[in-house]
Amino acid sequence: MKVLLIRGNPRKTGLTQQVTDRFLKGVLASGADVTDVDAVALAIEPCTGCYTCWAATPGHCIHDDAMKDLLPVVRAADVIVFSTPVNYYAMSGSLKTFIERLFPFFAPGIERSARGYFRNRCRYPADFGRKKLITIVVGSLRHLDTFGPVNETFRLIADSLDMQIGGQLTRPESYLLQFTRSKPKTVRLIEQAFVDAGMQAGTTGCLSAQTMEQAAQSLSVDDRHFETYSNIYWDRAIRMGAAANLASLRECISREPAILMREMARSVDPKATARVRAVIQMDFPDQDLHYRLTVDRGQCDIREQPTPEPDLRITCNASVWVDFMLGQLDLHEALRGRQIVVEGDKALFTRLGRFFPPPS
Ligand SMILES: Cc1cc2nc3c(=O)[nH]c(=O)nc-3n(C[C@H](O)[C@H](O)[C@H](O)COP(=O)(O)O)c2cc1C
Repeated sequence: MKVLLIRGNPRKTGLTQQVTDRFLKGVLASGADVTDVDAVALAIEPCTGCYTCWAATPGHCIHDDAMKDLLPVVRAADVIVFSTPVNYYAMSGSLKTFIERLFPFFAPGIERSARGYFRNRCRYPADFGRKKLITIVVGSLRHLDTFGPVNETFRLIADSLDMQIGGQLTRPESYLLQFTRSKPKTVRLIEQAFVDAGMQAGTTGCLSAQTMEQAAQSLSVDDRHFETYSNIYWDRAIRMGAAANLASLRECISREPAILMREMARSVDPKATARVRAVIQMDFPDQDLHYRLTVDRGQCDIREQPTPEPDLRITCNASVWVDFMLGQLDLHEALRGRQIVVEGDKALFTRLGRFFPPPS
């Protein structure tokens, strides 16, 4: 299987690059023959719309640049993969420029596409009819509807060039992929979906519905969590200023009490707390942070505010609690050394591990 990967992402440390690298890992593991092209680095000329490639020099463009060598590679590929960040609900400019330069593959005249639309004639129908198109789109927003336009554009492009869609990988909430410690299992599942997709692309050229669903699965439980987590993320980025990059932010956000505490509340075990009604106060005096967790028969509400008379009060430095939540602290030693101070219902404290399972 010949797989041609075209990357349209300008940021080489970015999240599109990261998930596409995982996809590539899968393609390589499948044993397929891969060509990995960075459309941004190609710096090709844009299509001028002169139609010279249709009439004066059929199949040949006026520009003498990297596309000259790439057009035969596109023709020969069994699977083409377009990878792009979502920019203003669309593909990136570099990928769009690359796709526009595929214009010599059309010939003058009109015919019907597989979807029943009019399109220009396909110059090399034998090469394109068997080709699969797979797309990878990565955006920071949550609502999948907003990824509809870019995905539909790719479907129309495939239809116009007489290619079949082999699968579409959509990754929303891209920044939440940075939550490797507060959402460890879900992030791992998503990352694995991209490797699996690459493997499927390299073997059959078609992605399974299950893999596409796994790649697109939500990292935030609802809109409210997405909004809160995104705002915390960008607030930390602003505070870091010039030091903010994806790696430093991942480290910072992994140890963010505001997120870990919300994940703790969200992960409350409804069975273990089915008959529990209690107010737990967490105080982090070093950061002047106070969380009130109200456990009420299977549910847990969290508020960032102090409570005068909770059933249980836990006081410690935020970093101590973060270490504990991430499994990096011996609780008994921390209690003995009074790094963590527990007041009120001590029996309730001993049951917290059952009420709040580790981050998933
Ligand atoms: C100019 C610009 C426009 C963007 N428009 C959107 C958008 O319409 N929808 C969206 O979900 N994300 C949008 N984003 C966010 C990117 O998709 C996001 O940063 C994502 O992680 C992909 O970029 P990356 O590969 O550099 O990380 C935009 C980012 C930029 C810089």
